[in-house]
Amino acid sequence: MASVLLTGGAGYIGSHTALAFLEQGIDVVVADNFCNSQPEAIRRVERLAQKEIKVYEADVCDRAAMRRIFEENPTIDAVVHFAGLKAVGESVKIPLEYYRNNIDSALVVCEMTEAFGVHKIVFSSSATVYGASTEVPLTEDSTTGCTSPYGWTKYMIEQILRDYANANKQLEATLLRYFNPVGAHPSGMIGEDPKGIPNNLMPYVCQVAVGRLAKLNVYGNDYPTSDGTGVRDYIHVVDLAQGHVAAYLKSKVGVNVYNLGTGRGSSVLEVIHAFEEAAGVKIPYEITARRPGDVAICYADPKRANEELGWRAQYDLRDMCRDGYNWQRKNPNGYLDAQN
Ligand code: NAD
Ligand code: WQD
Repeated sequence: MASVLLTGGAGYIGSHTALAFLEQGIDVVVADNFCNSQPEAIRRVERLAQKEIKVYEADVCDRAAMRRIFEENPTIDAVVHFAGLKAVGESVKIPLEYYRNNIDSALVVCEMTEAFGVHKIVFSSSATVYGASTEVPLTEDSTTGCTSPYGWTKYMIEQILRDYANANKQLEATLLRYFNPVGAHPSGMIGEDPKGIPNNLMPYVCQVAVGRLAKLNVYGNDYPTSDGTGVRDYIHVVDLAQGHVAAYLKSKVGVNVYNLGTGRGSSVLEVIHAFEEAAGVKIPYEITARRPGDVAICYADPKRANEELGWRAQYDLRDMCRDGYNWQRKNPNGYLDAQN
């Protein structure tokens, strides 16, 4: 039986995707160095799926370690490549670490697939490759260009995969451009567990909701949007996970790019209000200055994924808030709670 190698499979999106594959009866192997995740996430996926997962603690940049994984698992017929560093602000401060980790790991994935005759790669790209593009909704053909070293790593890896596919006519490379993944599995057993103070809106709101943080700073209310706050396309992580299964099942030769978003934009204030309603808690907030580098509006045109992958987001903003809150309430300190 075929199996799928998930690099970074213990992370936020990887763990939800591991569960989605297992629920479809597709086996997974995980390679993660746990630089931004906990082994506990995998144990919980195993409990939810009632299946064991073969996990390797390995750096994807380490060729020898990756070679061993392919040698020991000849059933691997695809790689979903999540492994990477992902904090935009941090990437500005330590760009070389971002380029080294993200580009090297992608190159090793390409080299190993070539060496072992594996032809399917699904890559975690990002809406960040649309840079400061102002045309919304964003289609896969919208202008690209990046505003951070993190973004450039995604852009460069997309190009690496295009060049690899050009030279290897059997390659099936799927580039998934995620919009803003949020929420958690409805069980509340797996979810997002950022280190330190969260940079992103939804985990920040969740931590305010459980009293771990005092109040939310809303970065600017003078954008040209309905209420002045920034608009984004939030997508439930379970929907996103399903998008990977669809991409694997519908994979085809060449390079295929898909936006994974809902097609709906929500402002920061809309998120706060939806959260307050779904969770039944008050979110204290204060309007502060704009965050440098933020665009006013960003949302997807997900038509291509809808039509070609037969995939469509099912959950709405209220579901995302409810499930994000449920996870945070059950695990106020993330996976650390399991170790106490
Ligand atoms: P995450 O940090 O939770 O998961 C990434 C995983 O990769 C972690 O478990 C980390 O330990 C692992 N990892 C990092 N470098 C590694 C290496 N060299 N070798 C082995 N493991 C390594 O992040 P996530 O939110 O699950 O994101 C997954 C992917 O999706 C990333 O590539 C990210 O850039 C991309 N992405 C995320 C978002 C988002 O908002 N979460 C949006 C767009 C794209
Ligand atoms: C959303 C909105 C903020 C925090 C980032 C990456 C992107 C992708 C997804 C990886 C914006 C506002 C936020 C806060 C706020 N990741 N906000 N107070 O910036 O759209 O996207 O994650 O590929 O590349 O850049 O997401 O959640 O940080 O912000 O008011 O404390 O919430 O200004 O309007 P962003 P975000």
